[in-house]
Amino acid sequence: MIVLGIESTAHTLSIGIEKNGHILSNVIDMFHVSNEGMIPRKLADHHSSVFSTVFATALSQANIAFEDVDLIAFSQGPGIGAPLSFGVGMAKFLSQKHDKEIIGVNHPYAHVEISKHLTGLSNPLVLYVSGGNTQLLVQNHFSYSVLGETLDIGIGNMFDSFARAIKMEHCHGSALSKLASGGSYFPLPYSVKGMNLVFSGLQTAAERAAQIHAPRDVAYSLMETAFAMTVEVTERALFLTKKKQLVVCGGVAQNRRLQEMLSLMCKEDSVRFGVASDEYNRDNGAMIAYAGSLLYKKFGPMNLDDCNPITNYRIDQMVKLFSSGSY
Ligand code: FE2
Repeated sequence: MIVLGIESTAHTLSIGIEKNGHILSNVIDMFHVSNEGMIPRKLADHHSSVFSTVFATALSQANIAFEDVDLIAFSQGPGIGAPLSFGVGMAKFLSQKHDKEIIGVNHPYAHVEISKHLTGLSNPLVLYVSGGNTQLLVQNHFSYSVLGETLDIGIGNMFDSFARAIKMEHCHGSALSKLASGGSYFPLPYSVKGMNLVFSGLQTAAERAAQIHAPRDVAYSLMETAFAMTVEVTERALFLTKKKQLVVCGGVAQNRRLQEMLSLMCKEDSVRFGVASDEYNRDNGAMIAYAGSLLYKKFGPMNLDDCNPITNYRIDQMVKLFSSGSY
């Protein structure tokens, strides 16, 4: 079966094609977010302007024609309304016009499943770290339960907001990471509640500290503190679940310092650690196609009437949605 996956939840429009567990193509076009942050209409405008090129390139790199596609998978949420709706609309149009089956995919579920697939770790504790999410996940039926999570903002959004507050040109975690390189550490508020995390106090304190400390030192201390908090709750969840595998996924999983800290912790605790390559931790269409194929095998296609965007679609809602029989 050949699956075409569409990703449009935030700043990235991506289309990937998958066939029986093999990724045939994964074309990614990201809107570069400036200091004004993510303006929903601008994200949707970007996605609509690049869609046809991304679509054609994904097919040509996969060396297939659109007629060969059996299933359209689309990212159903969570996400930002305008760009998310654009992707859902395109998926529904392609399905209806070309009489193809369709399935909606929870975006975090796709991050988790592609990472398990590519790392070969089949029964892990999962740390999902991205712009809008920071969650510890364990398998529950075909989906996942949340063991712990951020109680306010996602770790990636915290980095982006701080970068905006200190007026960086590129307000993104990767740019902040470059700024932090070689910085010196000083203590900032450290807020862990069991297996949950709170980041807003840390962000506020870092913004205040930036008025007196060098930006490089504040960026370094902010990232070290946020990652140390994240590693602490992950280690606690590993002890609780007795899992011997850890997978980290999501946009922030690309950060090499976080990877290093998690890897060290896993080594000390005799836990196998896995992380997919950067391409699959970015938002990407291939993970939507792959996750769509898994859901299709279990539940079959969705009705077009059920293919609506769900902006606050939590991964732990999946069991209820799919088990309700509405799909
Ligand atoms: Fe993502």
